[in-house]
This record gives sequence, structure tokens and C-alpha cells, in this order.
Amino acid sequence: MKPSPSTVFEQEHVRVRRLLEFLHKTVERLHSGDGVRSDELNEILELVHQYVDRYHHAREDSLFDVLQALGAESKGVPLARLGQEHDRLRSMIGVARSHVEDAARGDGGAIATLEHVVREYCSLSRSHLDEEERSVFPFAERCLEGKGLEELEAALAADEAARGEGWLEDLVRRQERLEELS
Ligand SMILES: [Fe+2]
Ligand SMILES: [Fe+2]
Repeated sequence: MKPSPSTVFEQEHVRVRRLLEFLHKTVERLHSGDGVRSDELNEILELVHQYVDRYHHAREDSLFDVLQALGAESKGVPLARLGQEHDRLRSMIGVARSHVEDAARGDGGAIATLEHVVREYCSLSRSHLDEEERSVFPFAERCLEGKGLEELEAALAADEAARGEGWLEDLVRRQERLEELS
């Protein structure tokens, strides 16, 4: 039997948490003066941007639209705020990426900014994931069926077609390679 959308989104959270842990560890190494190369930093930030922003959050935005139409917000599911957090998280990754080259060269100010942004990012992400697991996914599990479910499945299929075959598999391979090398 096909897993429900909330089960699939929860499985994606497992990968998001692994990426956050890896990102956090990489920046800790930078902090302790271990010397992290700019290509390592760029790769992990790129993977977070692609998997979290472009894949997971884009798919959740489609879920939020469908749940909004089912009256989730009026039943206490904070969809608007969680949607704004997707935007906020995306812009934090942009700020982090803009400091990579200087930080990898050992610039103290850039290292401090990068560290600060990544810590904030990991902290906001974790509370965001927890809240979705507490409120959004249970609501979807209870209420998503019929037309709403069909709409979501059509939006997710269109999204997948737009990214092209092998896109996600390639991303997963890159993440696993990076974890093996570390
Ligand atoms: Fe989200
Ligand atoms: Fe999520």
C-alpha cells in the first residue's frame, strides 16, 4: 500500500535532520580551527539548499495550500507562520553561502558570522520540523482525502517532473558520499 503524504514527509524529515547534523559538525570543525575547505562548506550548503529549500519545503508548500483549503489554520495549525519560516530559512542559507570563501581563508569575522547563521539555522529548522510533526502531519493524516489528496498528488507529480529524472537520487548520492568522506 502506498504510504500517506504525512508518512512520506516525516521520512524526508529524517534526511533533513541528518543534513542539519552534518552541517552543524562541519561548522564546529571550522570553529575549532581544523581548517575546513571552501569546497566542503559549499557542498554541504548546496545540498541543504537543494534538498531542504528546493525539494522538501517546495513540496510542503503544496501540502500547506491543500491543508489551508481544508481550514487547517482555523483549527490551530500555524501554516502561515511555517510557510514564512521556509522563506526565512532559505535566506539564511544564502547569507551563510556568501561568507564561505572568506571563512575558509581564515577570516575571523566571516567565520563568526557563518557560525552564528548556521547555529540559528539549525535551531530554527529543528523547532520547525518538530512543530510540523506535532501539528501539520497529524492534521494531514486525519483530514487529507478525496479531492484534496488528489490535488496534492498532482502538485507533487508536477514538481517531480519539473526537476527531471534522477535529480533526487543524485542529491542523495552526493549526501552519502560527503558523509563517507568526513
Ligand atoms: Fe517545513
Ligand atoms: Fe518539513
